[in-house]
Amino acid sequence: MKFQKDLLGIKQLDADQIQYILKTAESMKKIIFSESTKAPQLAGKSVMTMFYENSTRTRTSFELAAKYLSATASNMAVSSSSVKKGETLIDTTRTINMMGTDCIVIRHENAGAPHLVAQNVDATVINAGDGMNEHPTQALLDFFTMQEQMGSVEGKKVAIIGDVYHSRVARSDAYGLLKLGAEVVMAGPRTLLPNDLESLGVKMYTDVDKAIKDADVVMPLRLQLERQKNCFFPSGYEYAKYFGVNEERMKLAKKDALIMHPGPVNRGLELQSSLYAPDKSVIDRQVTNGVAVRMAVLHLFINRNL
Ligand code: CP
Repeated sequence: MKFQKDLLGIKQLDADQIQYILKTAESMKKIIFSESTKAPQLAGKSVMTMFYENSTRTRTSFELAAKYLSATASNMAVSSSSVKKGETLIDTTRTINMMGTDCIVIRHENAGAPHLVAQNVDATVINAGDGMNEHPTQALLDFFTMQEQMGSVEGKKVAIIGDVYHSRVARSDAYGLLKLGAEVVMAGPRTLLPNDLESLGVKMYTDVDKAIKDADVVMPLRLQLERQKNCFFPSGYEYAKYFGVNEERMKLAKKDALIMHPGPVNRGLELQSSLYAPDKSVIDRQVTNGVAVRMAVLHLFINRNL
């Protein structure tokens, strides 16, 4: 299977490439739980994480994934770097590239920043989230978790609920799930629903109950308060009441429907706190699968010419 130099979004992948990454992640997951978590695929390679926005899951799982495959993993701490002296994105990443870095994993608040970097360095560039555009490895770990639990996503109804407008996860999930044959529905306050996804085949509702009805997967999204300069909804209380996923609402979904969340969770806002538990949701499983998927992505893109 052929891969490009960079992973910038789910948009660039076809269904066969997505499935190949997920299949590779299955074998990577075995490494995480084996006696020795040192596999040789990236021996002699180096991976640099550069996060211009905060992260717990994505950054640490990329670092672990690189180390589990024997790469040298380093993090450029943006907040104490020369970025703070005004160095441009291109100059910063070219500098990192010239240190012999094989892969730059970048998160940036501006949509398109990883694409710009990819044009200016010969290292592989992995998009770890760019503004409101895409978060491809989050989507891949979501697909992995769905397939692990349900076998296939084809014909399954996936309901993505809440702050869709600000969500790069919702966009990457929608692009990929539609390619894999799933039905994708979204719901939230009208002010938090984008206009660009219906034309792709996503159904939009302002009534959350309609979206959740008979769903196989229910995925509330984090309310991205840091991106909201305007008031998009009256209050947290009302948001939880009308748009939050809770035990009562989950009775509308199919029996044994999966509850997923990309994290971090605003407990009691988009998700009833009791549902963030291993016997109620697969959120913890998503985190583990994130390491396996990122191992697969690093291996397949860095070693694409082998
Ligand atoms: N889901 C996700 O991207 O989480 P972090 O912001 O913690 O990386």
